[in-house]
Amino acid sequence: MSTVLQARELARYYPVSRGFLKGYAQVRALNGVSFELDAGRTLAVVGESGCGKSTLARQLTLIEPPSAGSLILDGVDATTASRQELAGMRTKVQMVFQNPYASLNPRQKIGDQLAEPLVINTGLSRPERIEKVRAMMSKVGLRPEFFYRYPHMFSGGQRQRIAIARAMMLNPRIVIADEPTSALDVSIQAQVLNLFMDLQEEFNTAYVFISHNLAVVEHVADDVLVMYLGRAVEMGSKELIYTRPLHPYTQALLSATPSIHASERRVKIPIRGELPSPMNPPEGCAFHKRCPHAAERCRSEVPELRELDGRQLACHRAEEINV
Ligand SMILES: Nc1ncnc2c1ncn2[C@@H]1O[C@H](COP(=O)(O)OP(=O)(O)OP(=O)(O)O)[C@@H](O)[C@H]1O
Ligand SMILES: [Mg+2]
Repeated sequence: MSTVLQARELARYYPVSRGFLKGYAQVRALNGVSFELDAGRTLAVVGESGCGKSTLARQLTLIEPPSAGSLILDGVDATTASRQELAGMRTKVQMVFQNPYASLNPRQKIGDQLAEPLVINTGLSRPERIEKVRAMMSKVGLRPEFFYRYPHMFSGGQRQRIAIARAMMLNPRIVIADEPTSALDVSIQAQVLNLFMDLQEEFNTAYVFISHNLAVVEHVADDVLVMYLGRAVEMGSKELIYTRPLHPYTQALLSATPSIHASERRVKIPIRGELPSPMNPPEGCAFHKRCPHAAERCRSEVPELRELDGRQLACHRAEEINV
């Protein structure tokens, strides 16, 4: 298998004002995340609101340069790439957002919008482009006559199909999807998820799939990265993470997910309090104030990500609490 994406200690800090004449503080929105992704595989990124998922997505899609760390896309290091190399990389990684309407031009016919990446990035003639657009529309389940319609003439699910078609037009190596089904009706969600999976099968695309919905993640993921306050706290295969989560935070997240299998229904573990501010993170383990197992060491020493039981994990007490 070929690795198409490697993130090493990827970080992004934002300056935020402390108030009038008080200078700036730094928000560590993303605080050193590392992972690798192979072609045709899906890494799901989960964690509660504000933990840095979209910030990670913005680094992976080269929308912003990271503050620290490195990012290798299809063999090229984005952090040291020339402007020309970066332009080439941008066609290899595409993004699908939660709200497709915001990314579509209301005054342009769908067919033309889908053809646009081909105009910019290929030497195809107009008839060839139309041919390609029609083929992609058919793959994503859009009828041929939709070619001449405007974005407002579609349902939310259809618009997300359009956004997916546009992301796939240049046959990218990687697609970053940030909550791509969260705004859709539950009945439509499954169709769109299946479309993602069919396209992956056909084109061998790698996905980074961001979602706070663990039932959706269970459907699509190969591997799962659990984030807390800008860092990875647990990462491993979906099977391991879902059947035997070892981090107290992962355990709490999963316990709150309704399971379709009644026999697997878990005891709910409440997560106390709110996600702390990344401007002012707690000492020691960032989760300790909300953790039911926190001990003295957790209050003072940051747990490093380490290998345990087939996955990566950042918890001092994992062995003691998971017996
Ligand atoms: N441009 C910015 N300037 C300052 N702070 C920012 C900026 N962008 C994000 N943040 C902060 O970084 C943290 C992570 O934000 P991010 O949008 O990545 O979270 P998220 O996990 O995507 O949340 P959600 O699930 O709500 O989409 C938040 O505390 C947010 O306030
Ligand atoms: Mg987000």
